[in-house]
Parts: sequence; C-alpha cells; structure tokens
Amino acid sequence: MATEQDLMERIVSLAKRRGFIFPSSEIYGGINGFWDYGPLGVALKRNIKEAWWHDVVRCPPPGPDGQPIEMVGLDCSIIMNPKVWEASGHVGGFSDPMVDCEACKARFRADQLVYRELYSIGPEWADLEHPPVLGTFDEMHDTGEAKPTGHRFATLPGTSDDELKTIVRRLLGSKRAKIITVFEEGDDLGRKLVTDGNKVYLIDSGPLDADYPCPTCGGALTEARQFNLMFKSHAGAMEDSASEVYLRPETAQGIFANYMNVLDTSRVKVPFGIAQIGKAFRNEINPRNYTFRSREFEQMEIEFFCHPNDADTWYEYWRDSRFQWYVDHGLKSDKLRLRNHEQDELAHYAVSCADVEYAFPFGTSELEGVANRTDFDLKQHQEASGRDMTYFDDQTKERFIPYVIEPSGGVDRAALAFLCEAYDEDEAPDEKGKMQRRTVLRFHPRFAPVKVAVFPLVRKDGMPEKAREIYMACREQVSAFYDEKGAVGRRYRRQDEAGTPFCVTVDGQTAEDGTVTIRDRDTMVQERIPSDDVAAYVRERLRL
Ligand code: GAP
Repeated sequence: MATEQDLMERIVSLAKRRGFIFPSSEIYGGINGFWDYGPLGVALKRNIKEAWWHDVVRCPPPGPDGQPIEMVGLDCSIIMNPKVWEASGHVGGFSDPMVDCEACKARFRADQLVYRELYSIGPEWADLEHPPVLGTFDEMHDTGEAKPTGHRFATLPGTSDDELKTIVRRLLGSKRAKIITVFEEGDDLGRKLVTDGNKVYLIDSGPLDADYPCPTCGGALTEARQFNLMFKSHAGAMEDSASEVYLRPETAQGIFANYMNVLDTSRVKVPFGIAQIGKAFRNEINPRNYTFRSREFEQMEIEFFCHPNDADTWYEYWRDSRFQWYVDHGLKSDKLRLRNHEQDELAHYAVSCADVEYAFPFGTSELEGVANRTDFDLKQHQEASGRDMTYFDDQTKERFIPYVIEPSGGVDRAALAFLCEAYDEDEAPDEKGKMQRRTVLRFHPRFAPVKVAVFPLVRKDGMPEKAREIYMACREQVSAFYDEKGAVGRRYRRQDEAGTPFCVTVDGQTAEDGTVTIRDRDTMVQERIPSDDVAAYVRERLRL
C-alpha cells in the first residue's frame, strides 16, 4: 500500500511522463512556482474550463425559485489601472509575513517554518490552514481545561512535554495560520507551555520566536515582515513609480470594475452574475505541493449581484451548487467536504464563507471558496473612482448597491484534484496472459483528454488504412487519437495512463464483417461493434 507521499510522487511522475504537466522552462533548471501543461494537461484543463463555463454561464442550475438565472461572461485585461488594487485593498493588505536568514539570506514564509515542524509530527498537522479543530475555547473553558479567548484550539495527541516545548518555541503565525501557544494550568493567557503534555491551543499570530534558527544554515532569522504578493511591472518606457503596474492577483476585481459596463450594455437585471476565467499571479513566498500553490495560475470566478435581502439565499444557492459540481464530476464524498468558515476566520469584507475542500495526498485543502462579500467591493470602487455603483430597480423603485456572492475556484487546483482522484493502480493481463500492474486514470468522461483511441492490430493487411478512416470519422465528433506503434497491449496501457475511456482495434475480422473491438478502460471488457458506429457509441456511452 503506497504512502500518501509515494502516491503523490507517482502522480507527479505520471503527469510528467505522459505529458500532463512539466516544470516551466525545465531546460534551464525550471523556475519555482511555475508549471507548463503538456498536450494531455492542456486538454484536461480546457475540458474543465469548458464544463465550468457550460454549467455556470450557459446553463446554470435553476434559481431558488426554479426559474432560469441570468449569467454573462467577461474577459478583462490582466494589467489594470493600479487604482483598482488600491481600492480593493490589495496594495495595502495582500501580504504574507516572511523572514530572512541574516547569514545565508534564504527567505521563508513565516508559516512555512511552522509547517516543517508540524509535518514531522504528522501530516494532518501540516494542514496549517485547517488544523484539526476539536471545539471552541469557550467549551473547553467550561470543562476547566483552558481560559476563554474566543480563539480556536486543537489537541496534539501523544506528544511529550519536551517535544511540545520544542515545537511551541519554534512556532509563529501568518495571516491564515495561527500561532500555536499552550497554557500552563492556572497561568494567564500567553505563550506558555502546558504541563499535562497533550494539549496545544491556537491563538492569533505573533512575532517570530527569536531563537528559531534558519532551517538551511542554522543562522539567525529576522523578525517577520509583511511581503506584498502582487507581481509588479511597468507600463511604458519609463521605469518609475508613475508607471508601476501589477499583474492581477485575482480575476474578481476586473469584474467589479466592469460591473456598470455590463449593466449598461447587456439588459441584465439584478440578480445576475458575471463569470470570468483567466490567469492570476501571486508572488507566493513558498510555492508548494506541486501545482497547488503556484505563482501563476488560472481562476474561474463568478461575482453574483443581488439585493442585500436576498444575499443569504443566493449564498446558499452558490455554495451548494458549486459543491455539487465537484461531486457530479467524480470527486468522492469521503475526500470532499464543504467547510463553513468560523466567524474569526472570515476575511474583513465577508459575512459568510465556505470552502470546498479536497483531501489531496499532501493534505486537505481548498479547491474553491464561496463568499458573501456584501457591498464591500462596489462601495470601495464607488468611493475611489467617484462613479455611481448603485442599481435602480424600476419595479420596486428602490436604489441600492447590490451585495455580491462570489464562488471563486482555481482551474489548476481542480485539475490537480481530478488527476489525484482519477489515479488508480490495478492489475491487467499482458499479451501472454500474465497479470501485470496497470496504472489507469479513471477520469470523468467530460474531462478525459482523449475520448477514444483507434489502433490497427498490425501494420499490414489494410488495417492501418481502415483504422485511420475510423479515426478521421471519430475526431469530427470527439477528441480522438491514432496509434499504430508497438504491441497492441502496450498501446492499451498507454491509453489507460492517459485516461482514455475507449480503445478501438481494427483486426482480421474487420475486413470480413466490418466490426471492430472496443475496449472499456475501467472494466477492460471488449465487445465488437460495427466500425461505422464507433463515434456514436462513444458519445452515447460517455453521454456527451
Ligand atoms: N477573489 C477571491 C479569491 O481570489 P482566493 O481564495 O485567494 O480568493 C480563489 O482564491 C481560488 O484561486 C482558490 O480557491 C484556489 O483554487 C485558487 N488559488 C488561489 N491561490 C492560488 C495559488 N497560489 N495557486 C493555485 N491556485 C490558487
């Protein structure tokens, strides 16, 4: 049985070997936090984006009253007027704490140091954004075990006092991760150690513990400092502060900046949504977990504008329908969860938020967040731009700034989750009937990069010509692949690794009765069907 780490390594290796994902600019040693998608990877991502666009823009689920809802699309520029990012709060507040080593000059995200310590205790502790939380401080106080602070706590099982002391002394926080502190029975609130040896309490972030050494060279680390995550560039010939621009860290602000343009030009009425898919850039201090936290990635975001009184209803609508979308596309329920944010976790602009989370082999983490952002963003832009962002409802004669519900997902994270979910190993007989280990990607039919592969059994007797003819007919309707090289068993294996649901083989019998074999990726069962029916068969079986 593969460990989770082994499993991740196998997935990464398969993704490289079969052309899903490559390290960016690999011939020059790569670049941390950037990835390239190969022929199969780009097809996977396109399928995800097309499915999303179809399911939220063209045919969104009916609204809470059973009526169709209004959704439109947008494609904004990546570089916008920097005032957008001042108004949105990104210039002032989109930052992570980081520390530098005074000796070797290495730079670390502050919570990454915590992460390393915790990972050595157990992988579940490496999930710093959502450590195992057992209850509230208040509940614990009722049992006499802790003093109330309103912060969250968690228990670290089976850890000795000495281990605890070591860990606690080395902990520090980030805006999301909590500093872990412990309390001695009877002590005041503060960063103290427990005496019973098995409880750790989470409180807000604090300064870096002075004696935490650089993990690379053991040198002294600086205090944590805020580091803005936006990539900067310059627009125009002059490289001065007046020409400074940012690569967008989210697609959302482009939607807010265009909300009035869309209202004025598209005949939409509140409630309605604007959707956008596009690149976003964040200068993550420590990109990690393969493509999960990258510096360049794609988002698929919706800003849904509604009356403030209806915001709770629409929040629930989007939260539940977005969660269901992942379920419908094959993420197993035991690996997928919807986690409502606690009050102390909410971003300053949100009144409610839930994350769709998936249990990746490296830990459970966010795929998509759904938030009720209130009228925060439109108000900010109204104030900063001087443009009126109110909406006039000509039926009720009411004028108001709409509330916004935002489902915000990552294309790369979705692709990674679907890849991890699809990965499977089983056994299949080789040409001699001997059982061999088989790696197979059991993609949902919508996402499989190639839907059908067509082979001649051998390269003679007119089989390649017939197979090519079938391939040409198929590719008009579904994504198809032709292969005539090597033993047919190996060709099947290659397609299993690519996640291709069907393989069609032209053999000796084809010339006699016009039939071909069609093999199912998951069951490996082969049946004979007329060669003219291949595309229709594939479409019907895959419900495309
Ligand atoms: N407009 C809201 C927003 O951007 P977010 O939680 O920061 O919220 C939304 O990002 C989604 O974008 C995440 O759920 C994730 O899927 C994706 N995402 C964010 N940062 C990412 C990164 N560094 N690498 C890959 N995907 C990322």
